[in-house]
Amino acid sequence: MFAATAARIDADDPLAGLELGERPDPTVPDGWVPVQVRAAALNHHDVWTLRGVGISADRLPIVLGCDAAGIDPDGNEVIVHAVIGDPDAGGGDETLDPRRSLLSERYDGTLAGQVVVPRRNLVPKPAALSFDEAACLPTAYLTAYRMLFEKSGVQPGATVLVQGAGGGVATALIVLGRAAGYRIWAASRSEAKRERAVKLGADQAFETGARLPERVDVVMESVGQATWSHSVRSLRPGGRIVICGATSGDAPPAELTRIFFTQLSVTGSTMGTVGQLARLARFCEQTGVRPVIDRVLPLAQARDGFGAMITGDLFGKIVFQP
Ligand SMILES: NC(=O)c1ccc[n+]([C@@H]2O[C@H](COP(=O)([O-])OP(=O)(O)OC[C@H]3O[C@@H](n4cnc5c(N)ncnc54)[C@H](OP(=O)(O)O)[C@@H]3O)[C@@H](O)[C@H]2O)c1
Repeated sequence: MFAATAARIDADDPLAGLELGERPDPTVPDGWVPVQVRAAALNHHDVWTLRGVGISADRLPIVLGCDAAGIDPDGNEVIVHAVIGDPDAGGGDETLDPRRSLLSERYDGTLAGQVVVPRRNLVPKPAALSFDEAACLPTAYLTAYRMLFEKSGVQPGATVLVQGAGGGVATALIVLGRAAGYRIWAASRSEAKRERAVKLGADQAFETGARLPERVDVVMESVGQATWSHSVRSLRPGGRIVICGATSGDAPPAELTRIFFTQLSVTGSTMGTVGQLARLARFCEQTGVRPVIDRVLPLAQARDGFGAMITGDLFGKIVFQP
């Protein structure tokens, strides 16, 4: 089968380790099922893998990709849950299983003609969503869903600042949050992305680091070092940062004094459960929300998609068709 593979790690030049070409068809362990991939979405996780973050060289070569939608062996249209873990080992939540992994960390991922996953990791794809749209849900949209509806601790009507508005998780936060009735403020380095964020449903958009008209209830962080101080300073007393990533770096000033003095909370968030993925798909079906897709490319042109993500030249999700 044709696949996009991480063959080598290069922290400075991640594209150097990306290989596009034929790989042996996967074997199928007991209890696992092969899915014919119709569409697979790119995540920053795939860039981290090529840079050697979260993976060691002895795991390579490995097929990249966390997200897919496709056809199961019974002919059903399915969405693939990316978290390989045992909910019983995590108190009912597979993301808390100490041995959990994401597709493409220990097991081959989704940027291929076929992916093999535990049967419990399949969720029905609503007919109303295209394969391209459904392929965006398992990582960025599931992460945004959990950040908003499980971790934020605030109700619809609250004001939520989304940092790095153009990213996959950020655009997901904007459309899901807007549909649920939150007042979404978005920040981006790019004027064009700020305009697009408002068109998507953000109430207002601001330059990265700009002073806001008033303090917000919650900040959604995925940018990290470049925006952390601004996130801390933008919160009302007692407010909360929900953080799922640190794209720009992991060594910001901690802002400890402001965090304790204004009694802020910092809450980490990672992915979601298979049940949440099924509810997210239903949320999209019920509200009419559709994932924001920057571009759809043949998998053979994956290098162009990776390049756009590395330079930040994207707004929403990049989808590959094998
Ligand atoms: N914990 C989890 O389960 C989980 C799940 C998904 C993603 N993540 C992490 O969350 C992060 C975002 O993932 P993604 O897939 O959404 O990535 P992405 O699509 O590549 O988006 C990254 C966004 O970050 C912003 N950004 C990057 N560098 C910046 C800087 N120096 N200053 C300001 N903004 C900057 C950009 O927004 P603008 O260009 O608009 O400023 C960019 O659009 C990644 O680090 C990823 O690993 C974690």
